[in-house]
Amino acid sequence: MDKIPPERLSDANPALVPRGPAAPCRVALVGFGTVGRAVAKILCERTDGLLRLTQICNRNFERKKQPWVPNDVIWTEDFQTILNSDADIVIELIGGLHPAEDLVRGALSAGKSVVTANKQLIARHGPDLLQLAGAKGCQLEFGASVAGGVPVLPALRTGLCGDRLHGIAGILNGTCNYILSRIETARIPFSEALEEAQARGYAEADASEDLDGGDARAKLSILALAGLHVRVSPQDIRARTIRPVDAVDFDYAAELGCTIRQISRADLKEKTLFADVGPSLVPASSPFGRVQRNLNLVLTSGEYGGDMAFLGAGAGGDPTAVAVVSDLMFVAESISAGPRSHRELQLASPTVSCDFETPWYLRFLVKDQPGIIAGLAAILSAHQLNIDAVLQKPGFDKGALPFVITLEPCRDAQLHPALQEMSALPFALKPCLCLPILL
Ligand SMILES: NC(=O)c1ccc[n+]([C@@H]2O[C@H](COP(=O)([O-])OP(=O)(O)OC[C@H]3O[C@@H](n4cnc5c(N)ncnc54)[C@H](OP(=O)(O)O)[C@@H]3O)[C@@H](O)[C@H]2O)c1
Repeated sequence: MDKIPPERLSDANPALVPRGPAAPCRVALVGFGTVGRAVAKILCERTDGLLRLTQICNRNFERKKQPWVPNDVIWTEDFQTILNSDADIVIELIGGLHPAEDLVRGALSAGKSVVTANKQLIARHGPDLLQLAGAKGCQLEFGASVAGGVPVLPALRTGLCGDRLHGIAGILNGTCNYILSRIETARIPFSEALEEAQARGYAEADASEDLDGGDARAKLSILALAGLHVRVSPQDIRARTIRPVDAVDFDYAAELGCTIRQISRADLKEKTLFADVGPSLVPASSPFGRVQRNLNLVLTSGEYGGDMAFLGAGAGGDPTAVAVVSDLMFVAESISAGPRSHRELQLASPTVSCDFETPWYLRFLVKDQPGIIAGLAAILSAHQLNIDAVLQKPGFDKGALPFVITLEPCRDAQLHPALQEMSALPFALKPCLCLPILL
């Protein structure tokens, strides 16, 4: 277990002196882009006296200036000005790892609390930065780094911290959900749904991080840190791409009463964290099956409280800014309340495995010929895998015939060698698409 040390009062840190209702917390904003501008707007329109925007930092800031920002707010492009300032809280909204990591470390080292929406930074360095914040007697909040405006991380910090969570699952990437739900409703090819998402600004020109699961597994590692209290690197979580999923898979999924979504899931069982990100069959009538377009959904499972659901806009300047400002208020209220002993956060470092036991959906694309099912069945049987159903829709070209075999529950590791053998058979035109069925 790694122990994050308790908050300590530093005499040199003015941010730790109780402020009382008359002294607003001074806030420095770094990064005046989509989210930063929306945060600044909320701060400038607030009248409750808890927070005061004092500095804005952005490179080449002259082009960023807005008439609604009060004249006494100092604009700068120099991080050091922020670190040397009297700001109590620094908001990091430049994104990426560098130079965001240096900025956040510098602010925490200077005794300033930090609020960030940066999932890459927290997924990679969250445990260390929390440790630094604890050692410096300040706070690090990152509520907007997962699911944008959906308050799942604050719920893990407060409303659910009385439970002992053992599972978290979510639709964490709005781009993938937009693409999959568009294929589902319009039965368009994957490539067309991706182009549509790019045209609407939901997907970047290079959408690999989204499509191949890199974005979602970074978010899953943050949820696991905050909710399951485990230290897990995103790279240790298996990520499967959604690229091979096509309209025909939604036809076959529908026959099984299911649809397809990119699901990120983490289950903590004793000293193993079972974790996986990728396209999965889910019942069409389930909470996951009903999430359309670019929304996010997170479900938590607790030992005492059972299951909870959080649904909403996972991105967008305004919803994300609300999450950032909510974190700011939480930190400001803590500063106003004055220093107090901090609950020690203990992080476990479990073994990470993707060896879930589930039923499976296997979709083959073959050149039709006699003996295909017999050949596949022989391999499955040799690996002790039981077929549940064989589905074949009529009307497809015999030169490229898609059909499906579903398997009774088995472990991922048991299935994997059989998949390799089946994909090497001469009639297979592509590797078999293998999706877990999450019932
Ligand atoms: N947008 C969302 O919906 C959303 C949702 C959840 C979380 N987030 C997270 O929120 C953070 C900000 O996202 P965003 O969408 O607001 O990004 P953005 O629109 O690209 O804004 C970033 C801002 O930071 C400035 N910047 C970048 N590097 C800088 C540097 N080295 N020095 C000074 N300024 C610098 C940029 O200036 P230039 O204008 O010169 O590039 C830009 O104004 C990211 O961590 C992102 O992952 C965003």
